[in-house]
Amino acid sequence: MPCPCIFVTRMTNSFSIPRGTSDILPLATPLWSQIELKARDILSIYGYSEIRTPIYEDINLFKRSMGQTSDVVNKQLLEVMSNPTWIAMTPQEAKHYQDQGVLKGYDPAKSVGLVNESAYALRPEGTASVVRSYVENRMDARESLSKLFYIGPMFRGERPQKGRLRQFHQIGIEAIGVDSGSPYLDAEVIGIGVRLLQEFGLSGFKVKINSLGTKDDKENFSRILRERLKSKLSHLCEDCVSRFERNVFRVLDCKNTDCQKIVDSLEFDDQHLSAESRAYFNQVKESVASLSIACEYSPKLVRGLDYYTHTVFEFEGGGALGSQDALGAGGRYNGLVQELGGPAADAVGLALGIERILLSLGPKEISGKALNAFMVALGETAYKRAFVIVDFLRKSGISCDMAHKPGGSMKSQMRQADKKGAGYVLILGEDEEKSHSVVVKNMSTGDQELVGWDEVVDFLGRKVK
Ligand code: HAM
Repeated sequence: MPCPCIFVTRMTNSFSIPRGTSDILPLATPLWSQIELKARDILSIYGYSEIRTPIYEDINLFKRSMGQTSDVVNKQLLEVMSNPTWIAMTPQEAKHYQDQGVLKGYDPAKSVGLVNESAYALRPEGTASVVRSYVENRMDARESLSKLFYIGPMFRGERPQKGRLRQFHQIGIEAIGVDSGSPYLDAEVIGIGVRLLQEFGLSGFKVKINSLGTKDDKENFSRILRERLKSKLSHLCEDCVSRFERNVFRVLDCKNTDCQKIVDSLEFDDQHLSAESRAYFNQVKESVASLSIACEYSPKLVRGLDYYTHTVFEFEGGGALGSQDALGAGGRYNGLVQELGGPAADAVGLALGIERILLSLGPKEISGKALNAFMVALGETAYKRAFVIVDFLRKSGISCDMAHKPGGSMKSQMRQADKKGAGYVLILGEDEEKSHSVVVKNMSTGDQELVGWDEVVDFLGRKVK
């Protein structure tokens, strides 16, 4: 008897999925596979090759590429813990590590500091990782334009809501290289986004487009924006007041309704652009139009990540998506490859959110893939024989299943066959064992035939192929 004075903390023995993530259950996976297969087919037609990068990277890769003031870096990076270690360091080095936010302790007497030598974060998007890989693998030495695509999970510590998850999936493309600096490529990338969405079965989405211009044009844009917002500063939310100083573009994305009203009241055009940038943007719009794609010019579209230059765009879904209505987005990011230690290579890309595409498609009736055949075995001896026949059928590419224990009744096995939607049922009982045959029953017509063991593979093969 356990002593009644001991309190035992009851460990709960069931677990729930982490907030903001989802299980993709067997009934939904066929649709996911269809989307992924279609994407792979189409992207290879456009000359893109698949790249797979790790799901976590050095945290500074994301900080450097997306910008310290972007919400994704500031609030949403999911850090991966690594074990801190003591290493010898001078006070100056300790200060350096502290500034980087990786110093966990310092012992001045022994001149050793406790650091997380490597701080990692789960990837919040694919662009930074692809550029890191492009630079690290010297892809520029092999080709003047690398057209890469990826499909996989991304992670952002966001407040979950409909269409906004902490683990979500993107189909992304990146065209990087010295030959990437062409407005026709911006148009091609937008065209690929539209084609993918259409092939997935979507229509009625909008393509919104803007140009931020070069680094200097962006400075210009920030200055104009600050001038327009200066008199309204006291009406902006606390976050936006700090955004005003640190990165005024982020005010345009603020979800606070008062800030949104102020942003809505502002009028913009392309006056921040130099003549050259304006000409580039006009050529992008013209090329997109030549692909019969209607674009909506959105001068307030600036995107939430710092690396963009020139063209930025978004595919807006509306309808079932509610407030999280971007099906996908992208743009040009000409300075990023160099910023991450690579050559002077321009780049443009996009990413589509798979969960949002599925939300937008609405509930789909997907029936699981039906089985070609189900084997019903009556009795232990018949079961052993049936087990081997099923193996032969499977090896010939005929999908087939059976009960995983002998002894089931005819009725219960027929019920299983029905549940699995089997086209044919094979019945092997005592009589069939004696005549070295099986009864093959066509489940839609009810017709049945007696077929010899050595003929059943060919017989069924002809019926189901
Ligand atoms: P992004 O706008 O941050 O851009 O994300 C692209 C798409 O991913 C969004 O339009 C949305 O469909 C989906 N998405 C983003 N966050 C979530 C979330 N929390 N839950 C569900 N879906 C989400 C990028 O990621 C850039 N890397 C795109 C790019 C590629 N730009 C140039 N190359």
